[in-house]
Amino acid sequence: MGLFLKVRGPVRKIRRDEVKMLKNLDRLDVRGKKVLVRCDFNVPLKDGKITDDTRITEALPTIEELLSKNAAVILISHLGRPGGEVKSQFSLAPVAERLDQILDEKVDFCGEAAGEMAKRMAEQLQPGSVLVLENLRFYPGEKNNDENFSRALASFADVFVQEAFGTVHRQHASMTGIPALLESAAGRLLEKEIKYLSMALDPQKPLVVCLGGAKIETKLGLIENMLDRADSILIGGAMAYTLLKETGAQIGNSLYDENEKSTAENIINKIKDSKCEMLLPVDHIATDSIDNPEKIEKTSDVNIPSGLAGVDIGQKTAKIFEDRILNAKTVVLNGPMGIFEQKKFSRGTKAVFNAVAKATQKGAVTILGGGDTVSAVNAFKFGKKDFSHVSTGGGASLKFLEGGKLPGIEALKERA
Ligand code: 3PG
Repeated sequence: MGLFLKVRGPVRKIRRDEVKMLKNLDRLDVRGKKVLVRCDFNVPLKDGKITDDTRITEALPTIEELLSKNAAVILISHLGRPGGEVKSQFSLAPVAERLDQILDEKVDFCGEAAGEMAKRMAEQLQPGSVLVLENLRFYPGEKNNDENFSRALASFADVFVQEAFGTVHRQHASMTGIPALLESAAGRLLEKEIKYLSMALDPQKPLVVCLGGAKIETKLGLIENMLDRADSILIGGAMAYTLLKETGAQIGNSLYDENEKSTAENIINKIKDSKCEMLLPVDHIATDSIDNPEKIEKTSDVNIPSGLAGVDIGQKTAKIFEDRILNAKTVVLNGPMGIFEQKKFSRGTKAVFNAVAKATQKGAVTILGGGDTVSAVNAFKFGKKDFSHVSTGGGASLKFLEGGKLPGIEALKERA
């Protein structure tokens, strides 16, 4: 059974040193100026309370640096997908409140992003002060990249700082419209994201890419772009079952998406033509029910009996993945190995994350990305030092690793 797919092929090395191509805060004169900063404050909320403020705390170095340079800081962001309408559950007010608690300076909030009140509050903002404007996506002009909307926002400030890495894959007004109108630079978080993600594209070898999660199609571009760079691609999580079925394995009742059959075939064929190996699970944790399990089995091999569904990688697989990860100089991890939210199905994901943390200690560059990955990092209580970089971008980090052009970054290069 072709579970270890290894075939030789040509190597193409593409250097992608995006950081050097961007103007950063060192080269933007902000002293005493009004600075418009686009952040990605798209934070998770429950009953109006922020449940994870990582995206806020990650923007602090830029905000604090601007304040220390006596700039008047106007923060803009989206939150959720309100569809161009005012929907109070997507208000940025809780974000402004959180910033007010964290920062020494008082943080004001304006209940609109464009309009007379926003204009007045921006005008009156003093150097060393912070103003948060309301959700940009309450206005259709943000998503439509409307020039008038960009102009209204740009009119509030002297210069622009792009800090919203999580949104750079969107062609929206605050991503491309504003940088076309104002002198612009990348903020410290955006710079850091690009620096680390670039290391995955121009890696110290061996490079091991570990992928999980459910949807293969969202990872296809990344796999294709990594084939010439990676030494090993390790695949766990639900996406592995669709690939395993293509190799002839029995997957029982595991998640299988018929629509992704051709994507799976495509990946297997591409791996065969590359120099990279792809490792799929060789054993599993399987259950009769995810929510109310009566049976939880460790399979002895790759096959999952009918009536059971795979919900985590097995011990043998975890060991194989761990060995590859510990031997790597660069590791990219995107997606969990199973249903880690339930403790009984979390061992494989935890083992892999522990191995990546150990690799960091040994000096490897370890780069994590994706919403579920960040949730797992938090659920397992890993700390900042356990990984070289945990990206704040989900879709944006995938798009970056696919090697595509990201509108928000391209717009800054044009300005530079
Ligand atoms: C994200 O959470 O991935 C970013 O904030 C982008 O959000 P979007 O997918 O709604 O554009």
